[in-house]
Amino acid sequence: MIANTFEQVIKTRRSIRSFTDKIPSRQDIDVLVESAIYAPYWGATGIPLWDIRKIIVIHQDSEKMKRLQKLLFSAVKKNARGLNILLKLLPFLKKKMWPFANILKILSENGMQSLYQAPYYIIIAERKWFPPIEKQSIAHALENMWLTATNLWLGFQLLSATGGLMSKNKEFLDILGLEKGKYQIDWCLVGYATKYPKKIKEFDKEKFVTWIK
Ligand SMILES: Cc1cc2nc3c(=O)[nH]c(=O)nc-3n(C[C@H](O)[C@H](O)[C@H](O)COP(=O)(O)O)c2cc1C
Repeated sequence: MIANTFEQVIKTRRSIRSFTDKIPSRQDIDVLVESAIYAPYWGATGIPLWDIRKIIVIHQDSEKMKRLQKLLFSAVKKNARGLNILLKLLPFLKKKMWPFANILKILSENGMQSLYQAPYYIIIAERKWFPPIEKQSIAHALENMWLTATNLWLGFQLLSATGGLMSKNKEFLDILGLEKGKYQIDWCLVGYATKYPKKIKEFDKEKFVTWIK
């Protein structure tokens, strides 16, 4: 296998939304979760990192995964219906909210294919504190895992769009062993991609950067 340079890892990181049933090795998953532990976190809490950040690795074939999927899918359906009604009542919200409402509509009609394919579902839970910057911390942990997954030729999908739906769902949190209200959660799927995007995206730096001298 050809080694990646750091720059290649960053530039080839992509969202994978379709997975094979090949199961990544325990060793690779260990490297992946370890990278999440080393990501930055809100350090001024005075509590140990293992209590600030929880990493929950769930196997596709487990009983708990089936229960989580069921809860998530019914939350997606309920929210898709709710948003649909809201946008009918308040059409001026459409411009901003339609893309997300549409994603939920498609997921609720067609199912969440990758959620039932990927061998691993990994949840990051971060203690809520003051100021409330746990979402940023989670993003650091997820990005570390994403880049590590890319380096290991593993496929990775963020499921953040549905994360907010479950952070307050007691039944869902109980399965994860998390106390309601104490943690923010977010998640991803990991496995092998059915197909990797071939082309590296090219961006024009000048469109993004402002230099102030
Ligand atoms: C905060 C955040 C939430 C995201 N949520 C999802 C998600 O729920 N499902 C998904 O498939 N991709 C999700 N993505 C991935 C983006 O759609 C993706 O990064 C973007 O389309 C660019 O494609 P690339 O990752 O292949 O470069 C999310 C990205 C971010 C930053």
